[in-house]
Amino acid sequence: MTTIVAIDQGTTSTRAIALGSDGQSRLLLSREHQQFYPKPGWVEHDPRELMAILEDCCAAAGECVDLAALGLDNQGESCLAWDARTGEAVTPVIVWQDARTEPAIEALKLQGAEAMVRQKSGLPLDAYFSASKLGWMLAELPQVRRLHKHGHLRMGTTDAFFRDRLTGRFETDVTTASRTALMNLETLNWDPELCRLFGVPLDALPVIGPSSGDLGLIRCGAKQVTLTASLVDQQASLYGHGCRRPGDLKMTFGTGAFLLGINRFDGSQLSNEATQTVGWQKSGEPPVFALEGGVYSAASALNWCRGLGLFKDFSELAVTYTSSAASKGLVFVPALSGLACPHWDRSARGSWMGLSLHTTATDMVQAVLEGVAFRTAEVFLALERNQPVTGKISLDGRMTENAFFVQFLSNVLQRELSLSSEPELTAIGTATLAAEATGIDSGYVARQQVITPGESCASLQELFTAARTATAAFAGSARKPTSIISK
Ligand code: G3P
Repeated sequence: MTTIVAIDQGTTSTRAIALGSDGQSRLLLSREHQQFYPKPGWVEHDPRELMAILEDCCAAAGECVDLAALGLDNQGESCLAWDARTGEAVTPVIVWQDARTEPAIEALKLQGAEAMVRQKSGLPLDAYFSASKLGWMLAELPQVRRLHKHGHLRMGTTDAFFRDRLTGRFETDVTTASRTALMNLETLNWDPELCRLFGVPLDALPVIGPSSGDLGLIRCGAKQVTLTASLVDQQASLYGHGCRRPGDLKMTFGTGAFLLGINRFDGSQLSNEATQTVGWQKSGEPPVFALEGGVYSAASALNWCRGLGLFKDFSELAVTYTSSAASKGLVFVPALSGLACPHWDRSARGSWMGLSLHTTATDMVQAVLEGVAFRTAEVFLALERNQPVTGKISLDGRMTENAFFVQFLSNVLQRELSLSSEPELTAIGTATLAAEATGIDSGYVARQQVITPGESCASLQELFTAARTATAAFAGSARKPTSIISK
């Protein structure tokens, strides 16, 4: 019997999961961290707090007998800067949700830089990705400039910070680098022209390596354990779902909803909607590519409704609705943090449309569930325009516990969905990749429930079209309610 421990460092919490070679998993530690919102649109984490939690996870891993390897997954585009000499952070973590660099992004769009960025990095110009956040640190923070001037600056995504501190190797992996908008998809290396454009010094960035293999030693209590996998959490869940071939796709419903589908990347341009990213790369093997699209507000929209007092407990959402809110003319556009694929407009805002004196709080929350499903379906169709989804559509995440939501999504898409009952699928994916790198078969067997679409959906398709029209009204030039009202 051997054990692999995966540390899943996500946007709201960090969890350490032990996966045994018998395929059984157990939660060793789960800890939430603070979210800081210093200004409207800004979202930060405290790197010291994250680091301390990670060290606790490593200590907990060290308690496992037969610990064979460690895996780590990260929250993607979130990034920071630190001092090369001490490893001490000199900025907060600027979280992927943070939109402070929107003006810089708009300026780059006006300069006509978007086509070059897309062609090289596979990503649109958007504040979501790390590049503009790292550029902002250099432009706005004197302590960052000072370190750079003296050759002591290190910057990168959170994985690079953790790995530098834990293994002493200043490295990131190709999946995380593919979320920065600084990596060239053809060379799988930092692109000097992209670095210049965003004002990010190449010499302050980590080395890009594979997502699994020998990634260095980490102290876990009294033991030294090899880190054998490190990648973005969304990519880890893609792997955890067992998606391996072009045409396989997964949807994870957490803070946001993230869709990733494996595709063949041959350097040709995508339709201007999805993002081209890397799924994973095993040491000595070519990378596996994936298309990505997201809904920035999914479970966060429900949390927001709860904060508004529209419901008290999530158990209240287990309602058997007799008809959809949309069929009653009520539609919610979940653009609470802007709209990603296919609109790419961070300044778009959310809305309920069709409120009347008869609308209840229950109707409003139902419209939010439907609104996330409609937006997910819209993103799915955008991905399919680039790579037909011929394999399974696998779902996970807290929101999928809501039976109405999952069935509604299946009805809108008119597709069969495979629902995972594994609450820690991301960590399972990381652990599986880490196990395989050490030659161990994790023995994990996925348990999935198949959701089949309802039969008569012509009217629902019309409602989907209406929801997409409503969403489009909140993107682009007509994004502000005032501009809609004045039409
Ligand atoms: O792109 C951001 C995504 O990777 C964050 O996922 O699960 O940490 O909210 P999560």
